[in-house]
Amino acid sequence: MDDFPAYRIHERAGGGVQAGLERLTLGQLSPGEVVIRAQFSSVNYKDALAATGRGRILRRFPLVGGIDVAGVIDASTDARFTAGDAVLVTGCGLGEDHDGGYAARVRVPADWVVPLPAGLSPYEAMAIGTAGFTAALALDRMEQNGQRPGDGPLLVTGATGGVGSLAVDLFSAQGYEVVALTGKPDAEDYLRGLGASRLLDRHRLEPGTRPLEKAQWGGAVDNAGGETLAWLTRTVRPWGSIASIGLAGGAELHTSVMPFILRGVSILGITSANCPMPRRRHIWQRLAGDLRPRYLDSIVSAVIDLDGLPAAFERILSGGHRGRIVVRIDATA
Ligand SMILES: NC(=O)c1ccc[n+]([C@@H]2O[C@H](COP(=O)([O-])OP(=O)(O)OC[C@H]3O[C@@H](n4cnc5c(N)ncnc54)[C@H](OP(=O)(O)O)[C@@H]3O)[C@@H](O)[C@H]2O)c1
Repeated sequence: MDDFPAYRIHERAGGGVQAGLERLTLGQLSPGEVVIRAQFSSVNYKDALAATGRGRILRRFPLVGGIDVAGVIDASTDARFTAGDAVLVTGCGLGEDHDGGYAARVRVPADWVVPLPAGLSPYEAMAIGTAGFTAALALDRMEQNGQRPGDGPLLVTGATGGVGSLAVDLFSAQGYEVVALTGKPDAEDYLRGLGASRLLDRHRLEPGTRPLEKAQWGGAVDNAGGETLAWLTRTVRPWGSIASIGLAGGAELHTSVMPFILRGVSILGITSANCPMPRRRHIWQRLAGDLRPRYLDSIVSAVIDLDGLPAAFERILSGGHRGRIVVRIDATA
């Protein structure tokens, strides 16, 4: 293949970005020992921010977008990989400062490449993608911090989003009583179908203002940040953990030390992009094993081609979408 399609993002002279489909050659991609024949990618919140310029995600221009990719090795100068191996890459700078997954060929350093765990197809790996990997990382860290299903209801915020949907699926499968905080009360059937036991409407929350409010939640997975995260610190039960993942509702955090020094509440920072490789492989093994999502079919809301990306970005940023969007790169896969 001399040239191939890629969704590439340029910086506009007057500010902002401009993105679209182009044909590139291998020589135009960021360097790396491994060339992947991409089969699937996915759309994450960060991809939408990057490609529309609504978030300052990209650290280099022009750049192929896409923080996730799964496919097979086309060529490798690193002995750990051989042509034909099924692999995936998430984060590590892909689609941020290194040409990303929205292209038929993806060239990356060998150190970023995860062998596709047995039992997961490239499609399933991208239905999970960074969102599902992050939800699983949160579960793993919370377990390490002592969280158990018996500790009480586990609240998931941004529940209908990619991370949220996978978190509802994963935690409920582990025996947690999952409560879904959502701005979409009409998503009740969807969220209950993933394992939520009940829903809370985020537009009707009465967060209170005291440093400690009634302790309700055994723990929480938070995709919202801002006021929601502050409220969680005030309402999680003694010794509970809050996995801080996202900022869909704000990047600020205003709280007091009371939840930490009087209730022993922990906020666990979850960062998927630079997760060290041993832990990364461990989490992907779990996603193919004891944490294998049960409801990927209903979580995937759309499978699109590269030319469907702009509409997908708008859907995600409007907050109106649900679940995960998979990008089919290789029509024959
Ligand atoms: N730390 C990491 O490594 C990591 C990895 C992946 C994602 N993230 C972050 O996690 C968040 C979720 O990512 P995602 O890919 O799941 O995005 P997503 O699919 O767009 O989901 C975000 C969800 O947040 C909720 N939401 C939207 N606006 C909100 C607001 N103003 N206040 C509170 N909730 C709001 C919505 O769910 P409801 O309508 O159901 O409330 C929305 O579906 C993003 O902030 C993303 O940047 C972080």
